[in-house]
Amino acid sequence: PRIVILISGSGSNMLTIADQVLSGAIDAEIAGVICNEPEAAGVQKARDRDLDVSVIDHRGFTSREEFDVALMRTIDDYQPDLVVLAGFMRILTPDLVRRYEGRMLNIHPSLLPKYQGLHTHRRALEAGDDLHGVTVHFVTEVLDDGPNVIQAVVPVMDGDTEETLRKRVQLQEHIIYPIAVKWFVEGRLEMVSGLATFDGKPM
Ligand code: GRF
Repeated sequence: PRIVILISGSGSNMLTIADQVLSGAIDAEIAGVICNEPEAAGVQKARDRDLDVSVIDHRGFTSREEFDVALMRTIDDYQPDLVVLAGFMRILTPDLVRRYEGRMLNIHPSLLPKYQGLHTHRRALEAGDDLHGVTVHFVTEVLDDGPNVIQAVVPVMDGDTEETLRKRVQLQEHIIYPIAVKWFVEGRLEMVSGLATFDGKPM
C-alpha cells in the first residue's frame, strides 16, 4: 500500500511513521510527503530520509477551494491507498474530504469528542482535567469529528504547563499513530457506514 503524509510543522509524527515503514515494521511505501509550509522543519526531515516531498504554499492561492484543488492533484499523483494527516494545519474542503473518505486518518491532541479545534492542552489545563490524551480518527466532513480509531490517555500532573503536557501527549502520538497506520495497511481497519471497524467488527 502507498501512503501519503501531509504535514505543516515539525513532522515528528510523519517521521515515526516513515521510520516504521523504512524499517519494515509497517509493510507499505511512503509515496510522498506534502507540506504547505515551505520553512517547516518536517520538510528537511523528510528529505533526509530521501522521501519525495512536495511543498504547496497555501499563500499562493486566492481561496481554500483553489488550494485544495492543487492539493488533491498532488495527492492523486502519488496514487495513495492511505492519506495521513500528521499536524496538517489546514481546514479541508468538503470536496477533498469526500474524495479520500475512508482512507484518510488524522491525529488530534485531545480525547475526542472533547476539545475539537486548537489549543487543546491549554483547554484541558484550564478545565482542570485529570486526564488528557490524543486520538487518531478517520476524517469526515466535520472538523475533528470522524469515528475514533485509537486513543491514548495521559495524566495531567500538578505543575503541568502547556509544554510539559504537550510533550507527554506527543510521546503517545508516536506510539498510537503508527499502530493505526499499520492496522489500515494490513486491511484490519476500515470505515464502514461511518463507523470504524477492526477485523470487520465495530470498534
Ligand atoms: C501533533 O501534536 C498533532 O497531534 C497535531 O499537530 C501536532 C503535529 O506534530 N495535530 P508533528 O508535526 O508531528 O511533530
